[in-house]
Amino acid sequence: MEKKIIITKDGSHSIEIPEMNVTYHSIHGALQESTHVFINAGLLASDLFDFIGVHHVLEIGFGTGLNALLTLIEADKHQNRIYYTAIEPYPLSENEIKPLNYCEQLNLAQYKPRFERMHETGWEEMFEITQYFRLTKIKCSLPDFSDEEKFRIIYFDAFAPAAQPELWTKEIFENMYKLLLPDGILVTYCSKGDVRRNMQAAGFTIEKIQGPPGKREMLRARK
Ligand SMILES: C[S@@+](CC[C@H](N)C(=O)[O-])C[C@H]1O[C@@H](n2cnc3c(N)ncnc32)[C@H](O)[C@@H]1O
Repeated sequence: MEKKIIITKDGSHSIEIPEMNVTYHSIHGALQESTHVFINAGLLASDLFDFIGVHHVLEIGFGTGLNALLTLIEADKHQNRIYYTAIEPYPLSENEIKPLNYCEQLNLAQYKPRFERMHETGWEEMFEITQYFRLTKIKCSLPDFSDEEKFRIIYFDAFAPAAQPELWTKEIFENMYKLLLPDGILVTYCSKGDVRRNMQAAGFTIEKIQGPPGKREMLRARK
């Protein structure tokens, strides 16, 4: 399927798949959305950095690697180790990744080689990207994913239910629930009623919280 690089309202890039009528991030601001939903309402809202040790984070849909980059920056900042697992069945090509302007937009050009390395590393293997951040990318579809590891946080960043309803079911959230540690959290930009009810049916306690620019609400689900 054809993919196009677009500029979102905060100046940061995203990717559009016109055939599926989806974008990888909010058109109101990719960087703003990822920072709000996954970092501020997820990573930093958890007690993860209160404890020194290795913390496991899972991302559904690696895509551009923006969430991974922002998490790596936080791990470096807090000098606390994160082992990041990301699943992605349709990796982007080098041509699609090279132009992405996230490090420039963040005024952190020194992170560009680390960002590129996250994309260059192989699959199904753990790689050290910095002293505080290790990445394992798994090339598989969400319904087929299982892991022995238990995670502190899940960034649930699949395409919206209108495009991929099969990824937002009770069964999928039951699996997410199993993959979390007790008290672990799952965050997503989506706030649809059906999705919230499927999460509740899977055992989660749900908080509706303020969404990123352009979106009224988002969901945080706790085990
Ligand atoms: C909304 S985008 C978010 C991407 C990424 N988090 C980012 O910041 O660029 C959704 C991602 O889910 C991936 N995806 C599509 N189908 C999937 C599936 N069945 N299982 C897991 N991921 C899937 C897409 O390829 C895409 O990378």
